[in-house]
Amino acid sequence: MSERVAALIPAAGSGTRLGMGFKALVDVGGKTLLERAILNLAPHVNEIVVAIAPEMQSEVERLLERLALPLRFILGGETRQLSVKNLLEAADAEFVLIHDAARPFLEARVIVEMLKAVKTHSAATVALKSADTLISSSGEVWGDLLDRSRTYAIQTPQGGRRDWLIKAHEQALEGGWTATDDGGLLALAGHTVHLVRGDSRLFKVTTPEDLQMARALAVDT
Ligand code: CTP
Ligand code: MG
Repeated sequence: MSERVAALIPAAGSGTRLGMGFKALVDVGGKTLLERAILNLAPHVNEIVVAIAPEMQSEVERLLERLALPLRFILGGETRQLSVKNLLEAADAEFVLIHDAARPFLEARVIVEMLKAVKTHSAATVALKSADTLISSSGEVWGDLLDRSRTYAIQTPQGGRRDWLIKAHEQALEGGWTATDDGGLLALAGHTVHLVRGDSRLFKVTTPEDLQMARALAVDT
């Protein structure tokens, strides 16, 4: 059986911290964040499923018509985790890559290495080694210094076997666990999650400052 891969894109968030309406539909250099995520992933996967909010439907339908790709959308949930759970259930590929719509600069190198990692190890995430010194703190004063050589920022795509991810999400729901990412849920479910080298351009557009950076970076892409 050939190993089919689906790209799952959670895009249903309301973009509260950015404050410009549905974040996935915000323009960065002539394309929306969602369109950039789709176009980056499309050459590498068999199908793409996007989780959206109901209010995004008409704009996303227009995008679908324009792109003519193996692409469909479903409704997301209250939280990112629930949107991803819906995506996992809607897909039918054996392997999945889950990628935030809010990360518009996804290089082919990262996708290729992630595809290899999920097919070889069944659970993987992109992780960026920290360049800054990291401390723990309650917010006011310096707490403890963390060992930078052992510290990574977790990015997306994350992925693995779709059945493992569905199980991990079901267990999380039953146990009342929440995680901001799917690698975390796979690890909680007892799987070894392999790391693929991240990229500083994979930052997530969260705040207006991030959007400014994204728009500057998009000038030549
Ligand atoms: N997401 C989703 N469903 C939700 C919440 C988030 O699909 N219920 C998606 C977002 O659309 C985004 C990704 O998960 O692509 C990462 O979430 P985040 O950056 O937090 O986006 P928002 O939740 O939209 O932003 P905010 O937290 O500022 O409201
Ligand atoms: Mg959010």
